[in-house]
Amino acid sequence: MGKNRLYLVTGGAGFIGSHIVETLVNRGEKVRVLDNLMTGKHENIANFEDRIEFILGDIRDFKALGKAVDGVDTIFHEAAIPSVPRSVEEPQLNHDSNVNGTFNLLLAARDAGVRRVVYAASSSAYGEIGTGEKKEDQLPSPLSPYAVAKLVGEYYCQVFTRVYGLETVSLRYFNVFGPRQDPSSPYSGVISKFVTTLLNGDRPMIFGDGEQSRDFTYVANVVDANIRAAESADAVGEVINLGVNQRTTLNQLLSELQKIIGTNITPQYEPPRAGDIRHSLADISRAEKLLGFKPLIGLEEGLKATVDWYRRNV
Ligand SMILES: NC(=O)c1ccc[n+]([C@@H]2O[C@H](COP(=O)([O-])OP(=O)(O)OC[C@H]3O[C@@H](n4cnc5c(N)ncnc54)[C@H](O)[C@@H]3O)[C@@H](O)[C@H]2O)c1
Repeated sequence: MGKNRLYLVTGGAGFIGSHIVETLVNRGEKVRVLDNLMTGKHENIANFEDRIEFILGDIRDFKALGKAVDGVDTIFHEAAIPSVPRSVEEPQLNHDSNVNGTFNLLLAARDAGVRRVVYAASSSAYGEIGTGEKKEDQLPSPLSPYAVAKLVGEYYCQVFTRVYGLETVSLRYFNVFGPRQDPSSPYSGVISKFVTTLLNGDRPMIFGDGEQSRDFTYVANVVDANIRAAESADAVGEVINLGVNQRTTLNQLLSELQKIIGTNITPQYEPPRAGDIRHSLADISRAEKLLGFKPLIGLEEGLKATVDWYRRNV
């Protein structure tokens, strides 16, 4: 950082990407965004759009990528169709965007002499291995087309480091939440859905019995780890969990949110969804060791900030 480098954020108009862009811009860095606005929105970057270069383009399009990577030092690769249920319904779109798109990006980065790619990997790669903490050296066991695709992206990252010397770091995000997460599609993240549903006074929907658990990770933690991953020499070629190491069931999450919002609405329970996993909790010792990462914002503080944002903006 601060070395007059050019940063490319793919998917920079999306939820997580826009937070990375905002932080880089606030640090005075030069930022370019490549996004096809398929799930992202212009309004996510509207407040700092005059300070970035925006390219409307697709990671499936090699020509657009060539333009986007020109002169770039570091890429934060967030562009993807980020949904397990959508990947079950549209496996071709998932494969084209998440496997071919990532492969194209790595190829373009290699050819342009990019220094480093930090890749948004996913905890879904683990599948159902036990109920305990997920560790990076466990054998992955993906249960959905989305999980397969994100895992293939990791393997390509590692191979591009080994074979071509392109520095890569894969961060396996665990259920990220925060301001600007889109609540509007049937594929949206559960916290954005719960918050907006409760604020409307409607009944939230839970797939399954609500006793499935997640390691809900506030987005500021993810931005911090990305920036660390762009610099750390020890992280090159590695796969690193990114969570806060806190287990929360959906039922607990909902009651925490009802407390913050001041509601007491009975949820509606629906059958479990295909491809969903039961428990997901990150061991974050590798992130601590290789990135010097410590969660900055815990669940309660993150939920309060998120509710505040939806109250003001939706
Ligand atoms: N949100 C989570 O909990 C979570 C968990 C694990 C991994 N991830 C990964 O983090 C990344 C960001 O996810 P998000 O939650 O911010 O989702 P998001 O949908 O808000 O952001 C994805 C962005 O990528 C763009 N995009 C999609 N396909 C594209 C394409 N072919 N070409 C160019 N741009 C394209 C979208 O328009 C959007 O702006 C994704 O790679 C996702 O797989 C997210």
